[in-house]
Amino acid sequence: MRVTELTFEGFRNLHPGRWQPDGGVNILYGDNAQGKTNLLEACWLFTGGRSFRGAKDSEMVQFGAEAAKLEMAFEAGGRSQDASITIRQRRSVLLNGVSLPSASKLAGTFCGVVFSPAHLSLIKDGPEGRRRFIDAAYCQLKPAYIGVLSEFHTALTQRNALLKQCREMGTLTPEMGDLLDLWDHTLAAASARLTAARQHYVRRLQPMATEIYRGLSLGRETFEVAWETPITAAPLPEMAAQWMDAYRQARRADVAVGFSTVGPHREDLIVTIQGQLARSYGSQGQQRSAVLALKLAEATLLEEVTDEKPVAFLDDVMSELDTSRQDYILNHIDGWQVFITCCEPSAALKNTAAKVFSVKQGVISE
Ligand SMILES: Nc1ncnc2c1ncn2[C@@H]1O[C@H](COP(=O)(O)OP(=O)(O)OP(=O)(O)O)[C@@H](O)[C@H]1O
Ligand SMILES: [Mg+2]
Repeated sequence: MRVTELTFEGFRNLHPGRWQPDGGVNILYGDNAQGKTNLLEACWLFTGGRSFRGAKDSEMVQFGAEAAKLEMAFEAGGRSQDASITIRQRRSVLLNGVSLPSASKLAGTFCGVVFSPAHLSLIKDGPEGRRRFIDAAYCQLKPAYIGVLSEFHTALTQRNALLKQCREMGTLTPEMGDLLDLWDHTLAAASARLTAARQHYVRRLQPMATEIYRGLSLGRETFEVAWETPITAAPLPEMAAQWMDAYRQARRADVAVGFSTVGPHREDLIVTIQGQLARSYGSQGQQRSAVLALKLAEATLLEEVTDEKPVAFLDDVMSELDTSRQDYILNHIDGWQVFITCCEPSAALKNTAAKVFSVKQGVISE
């Protein structure tokens, strides 16, 4: 997978222009607020995802401009392809000249992974971000998983609405009890599929992430990930029965608080370095390395499935990493197309065959 050319107009602070990156490592350097992250964000939109900064579409349109227009030529699936994205109130997308019903339909055609400092929250913050990471990564591998997720969320919302009603009425009538039985069944079936998928994904992610982290730390530190759930891995009907038991047992407490206190929405990805929780005990560099190991492992899994190396967007990844960790990143991702932003190209970056571009006031130059 390679970006061969990007054209942009009316996007953030970027001056209208055309950019041809190298097929290997590209380093974008420049002072703060010059447009380095904006450029990565523009490329990233072609994965079909939302902005990795969590920006609304309208925020990406240049101040005072009517629309943002992006065009990308890329190689994927063994051939040259092109896509264009126009952002007005909403995004409209063309892939190889054909209009797509929604921007997310680009997913699977152009694949990438992104690391941005905001992703440090993956380790630092609560479990929600970790669940989202696993769910989103698995969606890229198996688009049908989106259906499993939405089935689960619908069932959970309905069960919660009923629980809230019970709490407000201060009672659980037999009719409501029957209805709750029904929701428990639906929710347990959806929960089992969700938990099974997440366990499966984490089992595949684990060896890759461990290996990458070992390389990053020059073999000095151990790294492990595990999926935390009250449910034991088993065939789906058995897992559904386990969730059913859990919902039954929690019913009294759930009615008292008015929502579901147990379920896959309480699961977590446990990340440990040297046997200790990375979130509580990891240093800045260790936490950064942990996120990077997870992201690169995600990309490696994606490569196994699509048979192509995804493009790696590494925004401000090098700060806080010592030279050996920087070296490892540049060598491990050898053979991939990589975009790395930084303020000053460090010694490690200068020693690679990377192509270096400067970004100044929205203008990219060699
Ligand atoms: N919609 C927009 N229209 C015009 N300018 C914008 C828009 N959105 C953001 N900007 C400007 O883009 C500038 C550069 O942003 P960007 O995040 O790409 O900087 P950067 O080069 O990555 O800097 P840093 O090194 O600090 O991360 C900011 O100063 C911001 O004000
Ligand atoms: Mg930036």
